Amino acid sequence: IIVPSVQEMVEEKVITTVPPRYVQSDQDKSGATDDSGLIPDIPVIDMKRLCSSAAKDSDSELVNHGIDPTFLDKTKLETHDLFSLPMEEKKKFWQKPDEMEGFGQAFVLSEDQKLDWADIFFFTMQPAQLRKPHLFPKLPLPFRDTLEMYSAQVKSIAKILIAKMGEALEIKPEEIEERFGDDMFQSMRMNYYPPCPEPNQVIGLTPHSDAVALTILLQVNDVEGLQIKKDGKWVFVKPLPNAFIVNVGDVLEIITNGIYKSIEHRVVVNSEKERLSFATFHNPGLNKEISPAKSLVEKRKKRAKFKSLITKDYLKGLFSRELYGKAYLDAMR
Ligand code: SIN
Ligand code: FE2
Repeated sequence: IIVPSVQEMVEEKVITTVPPRYVQSDQDKSGATDDSGLIPDIPVIDMKRLCSSAAKDSDSELVNHGIDPTFLDKTKLETHDLFSLPMEEKKKFWQKPDEMEGFGQAFVLSEDQKLDWADIFFFTMQPAQLRKPHLFPKLPLPFRDTLEMYSAQVKSIAKILIAKMGEALEIKPEEIEERFGDDMFQSMRMNYYPPCPEPNQVIGLTPHSDAVALTILLQVNDVEGLQIKKDGKWVFVKPLPNAFIVNVGDVLEIITNGIYKSIEHRVVVNSEKERLSFATFHNPGLNKEISPAKSLVEKRKKRAKFKSLITKDYLKGLFSRELYGKAYLDAMR
């Protein structure tokens, strides 16, 4: 389904009410505080210290990751520039019917489905031979070079984090390496949330858990909006300077047989400021199996709590349904 550009709608003329297609006022938009009125802390992973220990938290911020802050600033600036391209340019990258990649919105399957208050740009990045010829290769330079470098750096961080998590659970390293080797699948999604005249009527991004192993999220500007569901309450994630936000996804929940839980999250918008973010997703190679790690299940004498599926079939199933909380993971049980 082809969707209009929310950014264009907002920039074209002053709108004071939200079109019905975006009204989702049934969602609870609050951001939780604890009894003292403080926003609960999100665990911080210090990459330098990681080698001695691994925390089992499903949503964390990552510091000391080794990526040059100047390079991160450049990545953020150029991501912003992508959304600032003239509409005629962006239309060249717009999703076509039945395509998930490109500018538009993901998971829209019918004309009467409610839409998010956002434009996204979604594409496959690795392995390089799976890139759609009309997307990444047609992006302007130097952005393409920046993304190429960013992709490699973030991928190596994801590999380390996944390996450390596997180690912490005594999963055989070969079982991790088999799934997250050179053919590991990486896709990118840049999100632009325009200001909204009625922020309580809309949702920037529908509540969901990421149907991937690990997401590394770069907060592109410092406008708040991301919330995670913690103990049944929505909690804001406050971005730390130069840190990444790391989400455990459904695929890691499957591989760890439910020990690491994927985190449900959403984005809320505000009336004043635009918000931008850049998510990089990591999954096993398309022909690899997504299943609970055998060594873990055997060692703990547990039964496998999830079905096993080849990654490409898992993704096919994912994109054939609407996004809804952790429903897709539940369907894997
Ligand atoms: C996402 O879940 O893909 C994006 C979250 C965000 O915009 O912070
Ligand atoms: Fe997400």
